[in-house]
Amino acid sequence: MTVAFCGLELEHPVINASGTFDAIAARRVFGDELIARFPFAAFVSKTITLAPRRGNPPPRLWETPAGLINSIGLPNRGLDGYLAHDLPELARLPVPLIVNVMGFSRDELAELVQAVGARSEVAALELNVSCPNVKTGMVMGSDPREVAALMARVRPLTSKPLIVKLTPNASDVPAVAQAAAGTGADAVSLINTLRGMALHPQTGRPWLGGGSGGVSGPAVRAVALAQINAVADAVAIPVVGMGGVQTGGHVREFLAAGATLVAVGTESFRDPAAGERISSEFVGLTATAVA
Ligand SMILES: Cc1cc2nc3c(=O)[nH]c(=O)nc-3n(C[C@H](O)[C@H](O)[C@H](O)COP(=O)(O)O)c2cc1C
Repeated sequence: MTVAFCGLELEHPVINASGTFDAIAARRVFGDELIARFPFAAFVSKTITLAPRRGNPPPRLWETPAGLINSIGLPNRGLDGYLAHDLPELARLPVPLIVNVMGFSRDELAELVQAVGARSEVAALELNVSCPNVKTGMVMGSDPREVAALMARVRPLTSKPLIVKLTPNASDVPAVAQAAAGTGADAVSLINTLRGMALHPQTGRPWLGGGSGGVSGPAVRAVALAQINAVADAVAIPVVGMGGVQTGGHVREFLAAGATLVAVGTESFRDPAAGERISSEFVGLTATAVA
C-alpha cells in the first residue's frame, strides 16, 4: 500500500487538504491517541503568510447544497509565529509535514520558501497561488506566465519538493500546471475552492463578512475530477487530487483520474473522524480488489 511521492514514502495515498484539519487542536483533544492513530499519510498545514493575519470578519461560513462556502481569509500567526509555535508541535506528528505558504508578491513567497525550506522538520512545501500578486494585480495561479515567473524566483531557494496548488478559477488549468511542471515544480495539487457567493435571505446583501468566498465539498467533486483528469494528462509530475472527497470509493476514483495522492477537506468538518474512515475504506477496497 505504500505510495512514493516526491521522494517520500507514504503509508497510503490519503492526506488532508490544507486548512481543514487542525492537528494541534486535535492533539489537545485526543492526546497521544491522535499520534498513535494519525489519520493521514502526510500532514499539510494551513496556509501561512509572511505577516500575521486576523482573517476576514464574520460570518465566515455558509452551508450550500452539498457544500460549504468559506471566507476565512487565511488567519495565521505569520512566518515567525509559525516557526516558533506551530512547527515544533507539528514536527511531533508521525507523518511527513508539508507546509502550505502564500505571499502577496514573488518576494514574499521567496522569503517564505527560503525560511520554511531551511527547516529539517519540513518534508515539502505547498505553494498556495490562489491569491493576487499585489504588484501585477493578477491572481498568481490563474496565469501560466505568473506561475513560471514565480517558480523561477523560488525554485533555486530550496531543494525540498515544491507542490504548486492550482486554482480552479482559471481559464486553462492544464496550461498553468504545465507552466509549473516546466519550471521545476515537483507536483501540483488541485482543486482549491471555486469562487462563490451567498446572499443574506432577508437583506439580499452578501452573507459572508468577506463578501464572496470559496465553494468546497461534494458540490465540487465532479469539477475536481474533470480538472484532475485534464491536468494529469497534461503533466508528468504527480498530482494531488482533492475536492469533495467523502469515501474510500471517491479516493479510488480520484486515483483512477490520475492523482497520486488524494486529500480530504470539507468532509472533516462534517465528520471529524473522516480521515481515518476514508483511508481505511480505501485500504479495504484495495484489499478486496487484490483478493
Ligand atoms: C474552511 C476551509 C479552509 C481552507 N483553508 C485553506 C488554506 O488555508 N489553504 C489552502 O491552500 N486551501 C485551503 N482550503 C481549501 C482546501 O484545502 C481544498 O483545496 C478545498 O476545500 C477542496 O477540497 P474539499 O472539497 O474536500 O474541501 C480551505 C477549505 C476550507 C473549506
